[in-house]
Amino acid sequence: MTEKVSWRAQMALGYAPLDEEHEAFIPVVNEALEVLEKKDFVGAEDVFDKCYAFARTHFSHEEALMEKLDYPDIMAHMKSHQIFIKNISELRQLYEFAPEDEKMEVFEQLANFLNVWFIGHVLSRDSLLKPFLKSLPPEA
Ligand SMILES: [Fe+2]
Ligand SMILES: [Fe+2]
Repeated sequence: MTEKVSWRAQMALGYAPLDEEHEAFIPVVNEALEVLEKKDFVGAEDVFDKCYAFARTHFSHEEALMEKLDYPDIMAHMKSHQIFIKNISELRQLYEFAPEDEKMEVFEQLANFLNVWFIGHVLSRDSLLKPFLKSLPPEA
């Protein structure tokens, strides 16, 4: 069983609105791991829905901030967000069309992807925003 993910101090960007959204996604990564353990088909749909909701709200929030800050590497960062959306969509399609006895194999790919992508993205791409976010008022 893959170990549960928890919030790490080095994931903090020092900007509360984004930190809160990142922290709120950690339970979704863990929910994916639990779904896998329990072969919970209803929970699996819920995780896919939460991934889309996260992409919709968090990415648009982060991308609007990057625009506002004239962040020079915005294109590469947005591309990383698009890769997330593309992977989630492809895995959902595979999951929907897979026979029942193969669904959890597909879901395992999702759980692994969420774990690796999310932590990696926050620690790398998102962390590069830190010096730029410093110029914002706390609740901008
Ligand atoms: Fe990001
Ligand atoms: Fe982010």
